[in-house]
Amino acid sequence: MKRFEKAVVVGASSGLGRAIALQLAQAGSTVVAVARREDRLRELAETRPGRILPLMHDVTRTEEVPRAFEDACRMAAGLDLIVYSAGVMPPVGPTEFDTAKDLRIFAVNVLGAMAWLNQAAERFQQAGHGAIVGIGSVAGDRGRRGQPAYNASKAALHAYLEALRNRLHARGVSVATFKPGPMRTEMTAHLSLRNAMDPEVAAAKILEKAHVSGEHYLSLGHRLAFAVLRNLPSSVFRRLPV
Ligand SMILES: NC(=O)c1ccc[n+]([C@@H]2O[C@H](COP(=O)([O-])OP(=O)(O)OC[C@H]3O[C@@H](n4cnc5c(N)ncnc54)[C@H](OP(=O)(O)O)[C@@H]3O)[C@@H](O)[C@H]2O)c1
Repeated sequence: MKRFEKAVVVGASSGLGRAIALQLAQAGSTVVAVARREDRLRELAETRPGRILPLMHDVTRTEEVPRAFEDACRMAAGLDLIVYSAGVMPPVGPTEFDTAKDLRIFAVNVLGAMAWLNQAAERFQQAGHGAIVGIGSVAGDRGRRGQPAYNASKAALHAYLEALRNRLHARGVSVATFKPGPMRTEMTAHLSLRNAMDPEVAAAKILEKAHVSGEHYLSLGHRLAFAVLRNLPSSVFRRLPV
């Protein structure tokens, strides 16, 4: 794992983001942990006093992001790595079409990501170094019947991150997109998942390649399976039980 001195993890109060923040701190990074739930962030910070620094912020308040980003960089005394892990996937009924819910999904998964990562991109391109990590999902590879807005939000995030990567590659800035499959976290606590990954295992895999530009699946099985699934015609894909 490459050593990052100063990191910001957005969405660090639970699940994957929390595991990434902890593992970064264990490896010696100073980590600013961003999310809304103060109690969770304070509990996390107490596990590594002085190494993990809590910053309470709601990513849907995009107008507050420039200030929050500046605060985070000041708290860490610099920035080498930003991880955007904040995300929501509320349950959606099979016949439900709820625009307000869909907009909330986009506000966190896409608009918040753009607000935070634009700040990081600008800072890193000026500095000529830095690593940007976005947490996408295998769910963004196809439009499935179960979660239309969540799938679309992850597809949008993947495309945005690819564009950042293409803009920043000549500036010495890496942009990595990770596409986890199912993980056992609060997001999926209401689902009965088969073959779900523990967030600690996913975090270790992500940190191993956090500095490597490109799109990364977390297992060879997913890489191969999604190479096929991505290319299936819709007429075939819609018959699959996914
Ligand atoms: N679990 C899976 O199976 C799975 C699979 C593939 C990809 N992913 C992706 O992995 C990432 C992490 O998800 P997880 O599974 O670890 O879920 P999680 O445990 O529910 O964590 C979600 C994180 O996002 C933060 N967040 C949500 N809304 C926010 C807001 N408005 N402002 C600031 N932070 C906000 C939460 O913090 P607060 O609530 O404290 O604000 C929390 O820290 C997400 O992007 C998710 O889409 C998950």
